Amino acid sequence: MIIVIDFGSQFNQLIARRVRENNVYCQVEPSDISVARIKELNPQGIILSGGPSSIYEQDSPKIDKSIFDLEIPILGICYGMHFMVHTLGGKIKKATKREYGFASLDIKEPAPLFKDMETGFQCWMSHGDSAIKLPKNFVITASTQNTAIAAIANHEKNFYGLQFHPEVEHSKNGTLMIRHFLFDVCKCRENWNMKSFCDGAISQIKEAVGDKKVIMGLSGGVDSSVAATLIHKAIGKNLFCIFVDNGLLRKGEKEGLEKNLTAGLDLNIKFVNAKEKFLTALEGVTDPEKKRKIIGNLFIDVFDAQANKIDGAEFLGQGTLYPDIIESKSAFGGPTSIIKSHHNVGGLPEKMKLKLIEPLQLLFKDEVRKLGSELGINEDLVWRQPFPGPGLAIRIMGEITASRLEILREADAILLEEIKEAGLYRKLWQSFAVLLPIKSVGVMGDKRTFANCIAIRAVTSNDAMTADWAKLPHDLLGKISNRIINEVENINRVVFDITSKPPGTIEWE
Ligand code: XMP
Repeated sequence: MIIVIDFGSQFNQLIARRVRENNVYCQVEPSDISVARIKELNPQGIILSGGPSSIYEQDSPKIDKSIFDLEIPILGICYGMHFMVHTLGGKIKKATKREYGFASLDIKEPAPLFKDMETGFQCWMSHGDSAIKLPKNFVITASTQNTAIAAIANHEKNFYGLQFHPEVEHSKNGTLMIRHFLFDVCKCRENWNMKSFCDGAISQIKEAVGDKKVIMGLSGGVDSSVAATLIHKAIGKNLFCIFVDNGLLRKGEKEGLEKNLTAGLDLNIKFVNAKEKFLTALEGVTDPEKKRKIIGNLFIDVFDAQANKIDGAEFLGQGTLYPDIIESKSAFGGPTSIIKSHHNVGGLPEKMKLKLIEPLQLLFKDEVRKLGSELGINEDLVWRQPFPGPGLAIRIMGEITASRLEILREADAILLEEIKEAGLYRKLWQSFAVLLPIKSVGVMGDKRTFANCIAIRAVTSNDAMTADWAKLPHDLLGKISNRIINEVENINRVVFDITSKPPGTIEWE
Protein backbone atom coordinates (compact mmCIF):
# COMPACT_ATOMS: atom_id res chain seq x y z
CA MET A 1 0.00 0.00 0.00
CA ILE A 2 1.04 3.58 -0.75
CA ILE A 3 -0.33 6.58 1.09
CA VAL A 4 -0.71 10.03 -0.39
CA ILE A 5 -0.53 12.86 2.11
CA ASP A 6 -3.05 15.51 1.15
CA PHE A 7 -1.51 18.98 1.22
CA GLY A 8 -4.53 20.38 -0.64
CA SER A 9 -3.59 19.70 -4.25
CA GLN A 10 -6.37 19.53 -6.79
CA PHE A 11 -4.49 16.50 -8.18
CA ASN A 12 -4.56 14.29 -5.05
CA GLN A 13 -7.13 11.95 -6.41
CA LEU A 14 -5.23 11.76 -9.66
CA ILE A 15 -2.09 10.64 -7.83
CA ALA A 16 -4.08 7.92 -6.05
CA ARG A 17 -5.54 6.78 -9.34
CA ARG A 18 -2.15 6.65 -11.02
CA VAL A 19 -0.93 4.36 -8.25
CA ARG A 20 -4.00 2.15 -8.41
CA GLU A 21 -3.74 1.93 -12.19
CA ASN A 22 -0.53 0.04 -11.45
CA ASN A 23 -2.48 -2.47 -9.35
CA VAL A 24 -1.07 -1.11 -6.12
CA TYR A 25 -3.52 -0.07 -3.44
CA CYS A 26 -3.35 3.62 -2.50
CA GLN A 27 -5.11 5.72 0.09
CA VAL A 28 -5.23 9.53 0.54
CA GLU A 29 -4.72 10.71 4.12
CA PRO A 30 -4.99 14.21 5.63
CA SER A 31 -1.76 15.96 6.58
CA ASP A 32 -2.62 15.85 10.29
CA ILE A 33 -2.42 12.04 10.28
CA SER A 34 -0.29 10.82 13.19
CA VAL A 35 2.92 8.95 12.65
CA ALA A 36 1.52 6.18 14.83
CA ARG A 37 -1.34 5.78 12.36
CA ILE A 38 1.07 5.72 9.43
CA LYS A 39 3.02 2.96 11.15
CA GLU A 40 -0.19 1.07 11.67
CA LEU A 41 -1.06 1.39 7.96
CA ASN A 42 2.44 0.18 7.20
CA PRO A 43 2.75 1.64 3.67
CA GLN A 44 5.50 0.63 1.27
CA GLY A 45 5.89 4.28 0.31
CA ILE A 46 4.55 7.77 0.98
CA ILE A 47 3.76 10.45 -1.58
CA LEU A 48 3.57 14.04 -0.32
CA SER A 49 1.15 15.87 -2.59
CA GLY A 50 1.35 19.35 -4.01
CA GLY A 51 -0.81 22.12 -2.69
CA PRO A 52 -1.66 25.79 -3.10
CA SER A 53 0.23 26.97 -0.02
CA SER A 54 3.66 28.43 0.43
CA ILE A 55 5.80 26.61 2.98
CA TYR A 56 6.45 29.82 4.94
CA GLU A 57 2.76 30.65 5.41
CA GLN A 58 1.84 30.19 9.00
CA ASP A 59 -1.09 27.89 8.44
CA SER A 60 0.33 25.96 5.51
CA PRO A 61 -0.36 22.22 5.93
CA LYS A 62 2.42 20.20 7.54
CA ILE A 63 2.89 16.64 8.61
CA ASP A 64 4.81 15.39 11.62
CA LYS A 65 8.44 15.56 10.50
CA SER A 66 9.27 12.23 12.08
CA ILE A 67 7.86 10.60 8.94
CA PHE A 68 11.37 11.13 7.63
CA ASP A 69 12.66 8.75 10.32
CA LEU A 70 10.37 5.87 9.40
CA GLU A 71 12.71 4.43 6.79
CA ILE A 72 9.90 4.43 4.27
CA PRO A 73 10.59 5.77 0.74
CA ILE A 74 9.06 9.23 0.21
CA LEU A 75 8.25 11.10 -2.98
CA GLY A 76 7.46 14.81 -2.61
CA ILE A 77 5.62 16.49 -5.45
CA CYS A 78 5.76 20.31 -5.78
CA TYR A 79 4.67 21.61 -2.34
CA GLY A 80 5.42 18.11 -1.02
CA MET A 81 9.00 18.51 -2.24
CA HIS A 82 9.20 22.00 -0.66
CA PHE A 83 8.03 20.52 2.62
CA MET A 84 10.73 17.85 2.40
CA VAL A 85 13.48 20.34 1.53
CA HIS A 86 12.43 22.85 4.18
CA THR A 87 12.01 20.26 6.94
CA LEU A 88 15.30 18.52 6.26
CA GLY A 89 17.34 21.73 6.34
CA GLY A 90 17.29 23.11 2.78
CA LYS A 91 15.86 26.42 1.61
CA ILE A 92 12.79 27.42 -0.39
CA LYS A 93 12.54 30.77 -2.14
CA LYS A 94 9.23 32.55 -2.18
CA ALA A 95 8.22 33.22 -5.75
CA THR A 96 7.69 36.60 -7.30
CA LYS A 97 6.12 34.93 -10.31
CA ARG A 98 4.35 31.62 -10.83
CA GLU A 99 5.72 29.14 -13.36
CA TYR A 100 2.81 27.51 -15.07
CA GLY A 101 2.80 25.20 -18.05
CA PHE A 102 5.27 23.13 -19.99
CA ALA A 103 9.01 22.94 -19.52
CA SER A 104 11.69 20.68 -20.90
CA LEU A 105 13.29 18.49 -18.27
CA ASP A 106 17.04 17.89 -18.44
CA ILE A 107 18.20 14.88 -16.51
CA LYS A 108 21.40 15.76 -14.65
CA GLU A 109 22.02 12.55 -12.80
CA PRO A 110 20.79 9.02 -13.10
CA ALA A 111 17.96 8.38 -10.68
CA PRO A 112 15.62 5.42 -10.33
CA LEU A 113 12.63 7.59 -11.25
CA PHE A 114 14.21 8.42 -14.62
CA LYS A 115 15.28 4.88 -15.50
CA ASP A 116 15.43 4.28 -19.27
CA MET A 117 14.39 7.86 -20.09
CA GLU A 118 16.17 10.12 -22.56
CA THR A 119 16.88 13.60 -21.28
CA GLY A 120 14.91 16.62 -22.59
CA PHE A 121 11.27 15.66 -22.35
CA GLN A 122 8.21 17.67 -21.49
CA CYS A 123 7.07 18.11 -17.90
CA TRP A 124 4.19 20.14 -16.55
CA MET A 125 4.90 22.86 -13.99
CA SER A 126 2.50 24.72 -11.74
CA HIS A 127 4.34 26.37 -8.89
CA GLY A 128 5.23 29.63 -7.22
CA ASP A 129 8.01 28.82 -4.77
CA SER A 130 11.17 26.88 -5.64
CA ALA A 131 13.96 25.11 -3.83
CA ILE A 132 17.24 27.05 -3.82
CA LYS A 133 19.35 25.05 -1.38
CA LEU A 134 19.26 21.31 -0.85
CA PRO A 135 19.30 19.51 2.49
CA LYS A 136 22.36 17.41 3.32
CA ASN A 137 22.89 14.26 1.24
CA PHE A 138 20.50 15.38 -1.52
CA VAL A 139 21.52 15.85 -5.15
CA ILE A 140 19.87 17.61 -8.07
CA THR A 141 18.73 14.99 -10.55
CA ALA A 142 17.01 17.24 -13.11
CA SER A 143 16.62 20.90 -14.08
CA THR A 144 14.61 23.01 -16.48
CA GLN A 145 15.53 26.33 -18.03
CA ASN A 146 13.73 28.31 -15.30
CA THR A 147 14.04 25.89 -12.41
CA ALA A 148 17.52 24.73 -11.50
CA ILE A 149 16.20 22.35 -8.85
CA ALA A 150 13.45 20.52 -10.72
CA ALA A 151 14.09 17.05 -9.28
CA ILE A 152 16.09 15.90 -6.28
CA ALA A 153 17.14 12.68 -4.60
CA ASN A 154 18.62 11.35 -1.43
CA HIS A 155 19.48 7.92 -2.76
CA GLU A 156 20.54 6.54 0.56
CA LYS A 157 17.24 7.31 2.26
CA ASN A 158 15.06 6.76 -0.82
CA PHE A 159 13.70 10.31 -0.66
CA TYR A 160 12.79 11.91 -3.99
CA GLY A 161 11.33 15.26 -4.94
CA LEU A 162 9.79 16.52 -8.17
CA GLN A 163 8.99 20.18 -8.73
CA PHE A 164 6.67 19.28 -11.62
CA HIS A 165 3.55 17.12 -11.59
CA PRO A 166 4.15 13.56 -12.83
CA GLU A 167 0.50 12.68 -12.18
CA VAL A 168 -0.93 14.91 -14.92
CA GLU A 169 -1.14 13.58 -18.44
CA HIS A 170 0.82 16.51 -19.87
CA SER A 171 3.98 15.36 -18.11
CA LYS A 172 5.60 12.98 -20.55
CA ASN A 173 6.97 9.92 -18.73
CA GLY A 174 5.08 11.02 -15.57
CA THR A 175 3.21 7.74 -15.27
CA LEU A 176 6.46 5.88 -15.81
CA MET A 177 8.14 7.85 -13.00
CA ILE A 178 5.35 6.87 -10.64
CA ARG A 179 5.74 3.28 -11.77
CA HIS A 180 9.46 3.37 -11.08
CA PHE A 181 8.79 4.84 -7.64
CA LEU A 182 6.31 2.07 -6.85
CA PHE A 183 8.25 -0.90 -8.11
CA ASP A 184 11.95 0.03 -8.15
CA VAL A 185 12.04 2.22 -5.07
CA CYS A 186 9.19 0.99 -2.85
CA LYS A 187 9.32 -2.62 -4.09
CA CYS A 188 5.53 -2.79 -4.25
CA ARG A 189 3.79 -5.84 -5.62
CA GLU A 190 0.95 -5.67 -8.15
CA ASN A 191 -1.83 -7.20 -6.09
CA TRP A 192 -4.64 -4.64 -6.12
CA ASN A 193 -7.30 -5.53 -8.64
CA MET A 194 -11.06 -5.76 -8.75
CA LYS A 195 -11.12 -9.50 -8.19
CA SER A 196 -9.08 -9.26 -5.00
CA PHE A 197 -11.06 -6.20 -3.89
CA CYS A 198 -14.33 -8.01 -4.52
CA ASP A 199 -13.36 -11.12 -2.56
CA GLY A 200 -12.04 -9.03 0.33
CA ALA A 201 -15.14 -6.82 0.43
CA ILE A 202 -17.50 -9.80 0.47
CA SER A 203 -15.75 -11.42 3.41
CA GLN A 204 -15.59 -8.09 5.27
CA ILE A 205 -19.34 -7.54 4.81
CA LYS A 206 -20.04 -11.09 5.95
CA GLU A 207 -17.98 -10.56 9.05
CA ALA A 208 -19.47 -7.15 9.89
CA VAL A 209 -23.11 -8.04 9.28
CA GLY A 210 -23.26 -11.68 10.38
CA ASP A 211 -26.86 -12.84 10.27
CA LYS A 212 -28.35 -9.33 10.72
CA LYS A 213 -30.44 -7.48 8.15
CA VAL A 214 -29.33 -4.63 5.86
CA ILE A 215 -31.66 -2.09 4.29
CA MET A 216 -30.65 -0.23 1.18
CA GLY A 217 -32.15 2.41 -1.08
CA LEU A 218 -31.67 1.74 -4.78
CA SER A 219 -31.64 4.71 -7.15
CA GLY A 220 -31.20 2.82 -10.39
CA GLY A 221 -27.69 4.25 -10.73
CA VAL A 222 -24.35 2.47 -10.88
CA ASP A 223 -23.17 3.08 -7.32
CA SER A 224 -26.16 1.83 -5.38
CA SER A 225 -26.62 -1.08 -7.81
CA VAL A 226 -23.02 -2.24 -7.47
CA ALA A 227 -23.06 -1.79 -3.69
CA ALA A 228 -26.30 -3.76 -3.42
CA THR A 229 -24.98 -6.57 -5.61
CA LEU A 230 -21.84 -6.83 -3.51
CA ILE A 231 -23.80 -6.87 -0.25
CA HIS A 232 -26.17 -9.41 -1.73
CA LYS A 233 -23.27 -11.68 -2.63
CA ALA A 234 -22.20 -11.51 1.00
CA ILE A 235 -25.50 -11.87 2.86
CA GLY A 236 -28.11 -12.89 0.28
CA LYS A 237 -31.70 -12.68 1.44
CA ASN A 238 -30.85 -10.56 4.47
CA LEU A 239 -30.45 -7.57 2.16
CA PHE A 240 -33.69 -5.62 1.72
CA CYS A 241 -33.65 -3.10 -1.13
CA ILE A 242 -36.16 -0.31 -1.51
CA PHE A 243 -36.72 1.52 -4.77
CA VAL A 244 -38.87 4.63 -4.52
CA ASP A 245 -40.58 5.58 -7.77
CA ASN A 246 -41.03 9.32 -7.28
CA GLY A 247 -42.54 9.87 -10.72
CA LEU A 248 -39.53 11.95 -11.67
CA LEU A 249 -37.70 9.14 -13.43
CA ARG A 250 -36.78 8.91 -17.06
CA LYS A 251 -38.62 6.83 -19.60
CA GLY A 252 -38.27 3.11 -18.93
CA GLU A 253 -36.07 3.65 -15.91
CA LYS A 254 -37.83 1.40 -13.42
CA GLU A 255 -38.27 -1.34 -16.00
CA GLY A 256 -34.59 -1.04 -16.92
CA LEU A 257 -33.57 -1.50 -13.33
CA GLU A 258 -35.80 -4.52 -12.96
CA LYS A 259 -34.36 -6.04 -16.10
CA ASN A 260 -30.72 -5.15 -15.55
CA LEU A 261 -30.25 -5.62 -11.87
CA THR A 262 -32.51 -8.42 -10.94
CA ALA A 263 -31.54 -10.58 -13.90
CA GLY A 264 -29.79 -13.64 -12.53
CA LEU A 265 -29.75 -12.17 -9.04
CA ASP A 266 -32.25 -13.18 -6.49
CA LEU A 267 -32.33 -9.64 -5.10
CA ASN A 268 -35.01 -8.62 -2.63
CA ILE A 269 -36.41 -5.35 -4.02
CA LYS A 270 -39.50 -3.56 -2.86
CA PHE A 271 -40.77 -1.12 -5.51
CA VAL A 272 -42.72 1.71 -3.90
CA ASN A 273 -45.02 3.79 -6.02
CA ALA A 274 -44.97 7.31 -4.56
CA LYS A 275 -45.58 9.24 -7.79
CA GLU A 276 -48.73 10.98 -6.63
CA LYS A 277 -47.20 12.00 -3.32
CA PHE A 278 -44.27 13.69 -5.01
CA LEU A 279 -46.33 15.41 -7.70
CA THR A 280 -48.74 16.77 -5.12
CA ALA A 281 -45.94 18.06 -2.89
CA LEU A 282 -44.34 19.79 -5.87
CA GLU A 283 -47.52 21.49 -7.09
CA GLY A 284 -46.93 25.16 -7.85
CA VAL A 285 -43.27 25.04 -6.74
CA THR A 286 -40.83 26.77 -9.10
CA ASP A 287 -37.87 27.62 -6.88
CA PRO A 288 -35.02 25.12 -7.52
CA GLU A 289 -33.87 24.87 -3.92
CA LYS A 290 -37.45 24.41 -2.70
CA LYS A 291 -37.92 21.60 -5.19
CA ARG A 292 -34.76 19.91 -3.97
CA LYS A 293 -35.72 20.21 -0.32
CA ILE A 294 -39.25 18.91 -0.87
CA ILE A 295 -38.00 15.91 -2.85
CA GLY A 296 -35.19 15.13 -0.40
CA ASN A 297 -37.46 15.29 2.65
CA LEU A 298 -40.29 13.36 1.09
CA PHE A 299 -37.89 10.67 -0.06
CA ILE A 300 -36.71 10.24 3.52
CA ASP A 301 -40.31 9.97 4.79
CA VAL A 302 -41.27 7.38 2.19
CA PHE A 303 -38.08 5.37 2.66
CA ASP A 304 -38.34 5.56 6.44
CA ALA A 305 -41.91 4.27 6.41
CA GLN A 306 -40.87 1.30 4.27
CA ALA A 307 -37.75 0.62 6.28
CA ASN A 308 -39.80 0.51 9.49
CA LYS A 309 -41.72 -2.40 8.05
CA ILE A 310 -38.54 -4.47 7.97
CA ASP A 311 -38.16 -5.95 11.41
CA GLY A 312 -34.83 -5.93 13.16
CA ALA A 313 -32.71 -4.28 10.48
CA GLU A 314 -29.43 -3.06 11.95
CA PHE A 315 -27.54 -1.81 8.92
CA LEU A 316 -28.03 0.69 6.13
CA GLY A 317 -26.14 -0.01 2.90
CA GLN A 318 -24.90 2.96 0.88
CA GLY A 319 -23.04 3.45 -2.37
CA THR A 320 -20.71 6.18 -1.05
CA LEU A 321 -17.59 6.54 -3.20
CA TYR A 322 -14.03 7.42 -2.30
CA PRO A 323 -14.06 11.00 -3.67
CA ASP A 324 -16.95 11.85 -1.29
CA ILE A 325 -14.83 10.65 1.61
CA ILE A 326 -11.64 12.41 0.57
CA GLU A 327 -13.59 15.62 -0.06
CA SER A 328 -14.95 15.66 3.47
CA LYS A 329 -11.57 15.30 5.15
CA SER A 330 -9.36 17.25 2.76
CA ALA A 331 -6.60 19.59 3.98
CA PHE A 332 -8.93 22.54 3.68
CA GLY A 333 -12.01 20.99 5.17
CA GLY A 334 -13.76 19.94 1.99
CA PRO A 335 -15.91 22.09 -0.23
CA THR A 336 -16.02 25.69 0.87
CA SER A 337 -19.49 26.48 -0.31
CA ILE A 338 -22.56 24.44 -1.02
CA ILE A 339 -23.76 25.36 -4.45
CA LYS A 340 -26.80 23.13 -4.56
CA SER A 341 -28.33 21.02 -1.84
CA HIS A 342 -27.71 17.59 -3.28
CA HIS A 343 -30.05 14.77 -2.56
CA ASN A 344 -29.38 11.15 -3.19
CA VAL A 345 -30.41 7.85 -1.73
CA GLY A 346 -27.59 8.21 0.77
CA GLY A 347 -29.04 11.22 2.55
CA LEU A 348 -31.03 9.37 5.17
CA PRO A 349 -31.82 10.58 8.67
CA GLU A 350 -29.66 9.88 11.68
CA LYS A 351 -32.72 9.01 13.69
CA MET A 352 -32.87 5.72 11.82
CA LYS A 353 -30.01 4.67 14.09
CA LEU A 354 -28.65 2.20 11.59
CA LYS A 355 -25.01 1.30 11.26
CA LEU A 356 -23.58 2.09 7.83
CA ILE A 357 -22.21 -0.43 5.37
CA GLU A 358 -20.41 1.41 2.58
CA PRO A 359 -18.54 -1.22 0.56
CA LEU A 360 -17.48 1.19 -2.22
CA GLN A 361 -15.95 3.79 0.00
CA LEU A 362 -12.44 3.02 -1.21
CA LEU A 363 -13.27 3.16 -4.91
CA PHE A 364 -13.31 5.75 -7.67
CA LYS A 365 -16.15 5.83 -10.17
CA ASP A 366 -14.24 4.03 -12.90
CA GLU A 367 -13.25 1.34 -10.41
CA VAL A 368 -16.90 0.93 -9.40
CA ARG A 369 -17.67 0.31 -13.06
CA LYS A 370 -14.92 -2.32 -13.24
CA LEU A 371 -16.26 -3.91 -10.08
CA GLY A 372 -19.77 -3.91 -11.57
CA SER A 373 -18.47 -5.83 -14.58
CA GLU A 374 -16.55 -8.19 -12.30
CA LEU A 375 -19.82 -8.87 -10.48
CA GLY A 376 -21.50 -9.61 -13.78
CA ILE A 377 -23.86 -6.63 -13.73
CA ASN A 378 -25.36 -5.78 -17.10
CA GLU A 379 -23.14 -3.39 -19.11
CA ASP A 380 -26.05 -0.97 -19.69
CA LEU A 381 -26.30 -0.41 -15.98
CA VAL A 382 -22.56 -0.37 -15.36
CA TRP A 383 -22.07 2.38 -17.94
CA ARG A 384 -25.15 4.37 -17.07
CA GLN A 385 -24.56 8.12 -16.97
CA PRO A 386 -25.17 9.75 -13.57
CA PHE A 387 -28.71 10.89 -12.86
CA PRO A 388 -29.48 13.31 -10.01
CA GLY A 389 -31.53 12.27 -6.98
CA PRO A 390 -34.24 14.91 -7.64
CA GLY A 391 -34.55 13.49 -11.15
CA LEU A 392 -36.43 15.27 -13.91
CA ALA A 393 -37.76 17.83 -11.42
CA ILE A 394 -34.56 19.83 -11.75
CA ARG A 395 -34.64 19.54 -15.54
CA ILE A 396 -38.06 21.14 -15.80
CA MET A 397 -37.62 24.85 -15.33
CA GLY A 398 -40.65 26.23 -13.57
CA GLU A 399 -43.59 24.20 -12.40
CA ILE A 400 -43.61 20.42 -12.58
CA THR A 401 -46.80 18.88 -13.90
CA ALA A 402 -47.61 15.42 -15.18
CA SER A 403 -47.89 16.72 -18.75
CA ARG A 404 -44.60 18.65 -18.62
CA LEU A 405 -42.90 15.53 -17.20
CA GLU A 406 -44.27 13.54 -20.11
CA ILE A 407 -42.91 16.03 -22.67
CA LEU A 408 -39.46 15.98 -21.10
CA ARG A 409 -39.43 12.21 -20.76
CA GLU A 410 -40.15 11.74 -24.47
CA ALA A 411 -37.62 14.35 -25.61
CA ASP A 412 -34.98 12.94 -23.30
CA ALA A 413 -35.55 9.39 -24.53
CA ILE A 414 -35.04 10.49 -28.14
CA LEU A 415 -31.88 12.36 -27.25
CA LEU A 416 -30.41 9.38 -25.42
CA GLU A 417 -31.36 7.01 -28.21
CA GLU A 418 -29.51 9.14 -30.76
CA ILE A 419 -26.48 9.65 -28.52
CA LYS A 420 -26.22 5.88 -28.06
CA GLU A 421 -26.76 5.27 -31.75
CA ALA A 422 -23.88 7.65 -32.50
CA GLY A 423 -21.65 5.67 -30.12
CA LEU A 424 -21.16 8.65 -27.82
CA TYR A 425 -23.01 7.56 -24.68
CA ARG A 426 -19.98 6.26 -22.77
CA LYS A 427 -17.77 9.12 -23.90
CA LEU A 428 -20.04 11.73 -22.36
CA TRP A 429 -20.32 12.29 -18.63
CA GLN A 430 -23.95 13.17 -19.11
CA SER A 431 -26.34 13.97 -21.93
CA PHE A 432 -29.94 14.98 -21.32
CA ALA A 433 -32.82 17.23 -22.24
CA VAL A 434 -34.09 20.21 -20.25
CA LEU A 435 -37.58 21.66 -20.58
CA LEU A 436 -37.49 25.45 -20.57
CA PRO A 437 -40.12 27.70 -18.99
CA ILE A 438 -40.76 29.61 -22.18
CA LYS A 439 -42.83 29.24 -25.28
CA SER A 440 -41.79 30.56 -28.64
CA VAL A 441 -43.41 31.08 -32.02
CA GLY A 442 -42.87 28.66 -34.86
CA VAL A 443 -44.41 27.53 -38.09
CA MET A 444 -45.35 23.94 -38.83
CA GLY A 445 -47.39 22.75 -41.79
CA ASP A 446 -48.22 26.36 -42.74
CA LYS A 447 -49.65 26.95 -39.33
CA ARG A 448 -48.36 29.23 -36.61
CA THR A 449 -47.31 27.40 -33.44
CA PHE A 450 -46.63 28.72 -29.98
CA ALA A 451 -45.01 25.89 -28.07
CA ASN A 452 -42.31 24.71 -25.67
CA CYS A 453 -38.58 24.76 -26.05
CA ILE A 454 -36.13 21.96 -25.20
CA ALA A 455 -32.47 22.53 -24.41
CA ILE A 456 -29.91 19.83 -25.10
CA ARG A 457 -27.19 19.49 -22.47
CA ALA A 458 -24.19 17.25 -23.09
CA VAL A 459 -20.95 17.45 -21.15
CA THR A 460 -17.61 15.74 -20.82
CA SER A 461 -16.07 15.50 -17.37
CA ASN A 462 -13.99 13.25 -15.15
CA ASP A 463 -15.59 13.94 -11.82
CA ALA A 464 -18.40 16.50 -12.34
CA MET A 465 -16.39 19.11 -10.43
CA THR A 466 -15.59 20.74 -13.74
CA ALA A 467 -17.07 19.95 -17.12
CA ASP A 468 -16.88 21.05 -20.71
CA TRP A 469 -19.79 21.21 -23.11
CA ALA A 470 -19.51 18.38 -25.57
CA LYS A 471 -18.80 19.32 -29.17
CA LEU A 472 -21.54 17.12 -30.61
CA PRO A 473 -21.43 16.73 -34.40
CA HIS A 474 -23.80 19.13 -36.19
CA ASP A 475 -25.59 16.39 -38.09
CA LEU A 476 -26.29 14.56 -34.84
CA LEU A 477 -27.67 17.76 -33.28
CA GLY A 478 -29.80 18.25 -36.37
CA LYS A 479 -31.16 14.73 -36.15
CA ILE A 480 -31.99 15.05 -32.46
CA SER A 481 -33.69 18.41 -33.00
CA ASN A 482 -35.71 17.11 -35.95
CA ARG A 483 -36.85 14.02 -34.15
CA ILE A 484 -37.82 15.87 -30.97
CA ILE A 485 -39.86 18.46 -32.86
CA ASN A 486 -41.56 15.85 -35.03
CA GLU A 487 -42.17 13.21 -32.39
CA VAL A 488 -42.89 15.14 -29.20
CA GLU A 489 -46.07 17.12 -29.05
CA ASN A 490 -45.91 20.72 -27.97
CA ILE A 491 -42.25 21.26 -28.80
CA ASN A 492 -41.38 23.60 -31.67
CA ARG A 493 -37.82 24.62 -30.81
CA VAL A 494 -34.61 22.91 -29.67
CA VAL A 495 -31.50 24.76 -28.48
CA PHE A 496 -28.02 23.51 -27.55
CA ASP A 497 -26.33 24.55 -24.31
CA ILE A 498 -22.70 25.61 -24.89
CA THR A 499 -21.75 26.46 -21.31
CA SER A 500 -18.91 24.77 -19.45
CA LYS A 501 -18.73 24.27 -15.69
CA PRO A 502 -17.76 26.66 -14.23
CA PRO A 503 -19.42 29.08 -14.81
CA GLY A 504 -22.53 26.96 -15.46
CA THR A 505 -23.40 23.88 -13.45
CA ILE A 506 -24.15 20.63 -15.26
CA GLU A 507 -27.81 20.56 -14.24
CA TRP A 508 -29.88 23.68 -14.92
CA GLU A 509 -31.28 23.87 -11.40
P1 XMP B 1 -24.04 20.17 -10.95
O1 XMP B 1 -25.36 20.50 -11.54
O2 XMP B 1 -23.90 20.66 -9.53
O3 XMP B 1 -23.99 18.59 -10.87
O4 XMP B 1 -22.89 20.60 -11.80
C1 XMP B 1 -22.83 17.83 -10.66
C2 XMP B 1 -23.20 16.36 -10.77
O5 XMP B 1 -24.07 16.00 -9.70
C3 XMP B 1 -25.31 15.53 -10.19
N1 XMP B 1 -26.34 16.05 -9.29
C4 XMP B 1 -26.88 15.33 -8.28
N2 XMP B 1 -26.69 14.05 -7.90
N3 XMP B 1 -28.25 14.33 -6.17
C5 XMP B 1 -27.38 13.55 -6.87
O6 XMP B 1 -27.25 12.37 -6.52
C6 XMP B 1 -28.50 15.62 -6.49
O7 XMP B 1 -29.29 16.31 -5.85
C7 XMP B 1 -27.78 16.14 -7.61
N4 XMP B 1 -27.75 17.38 -8.21
C8 XMP B 1 -26.86 17.27 -9.24
C9 XMP B 1 -25.43 16.07 -11.60
O8 XMP B 1 -26.28 15.28 -12.40
C10 XMP B 1 -23.99 16.04 -12.04
O9 XMP B 1 -23.58 14.76 -12.45
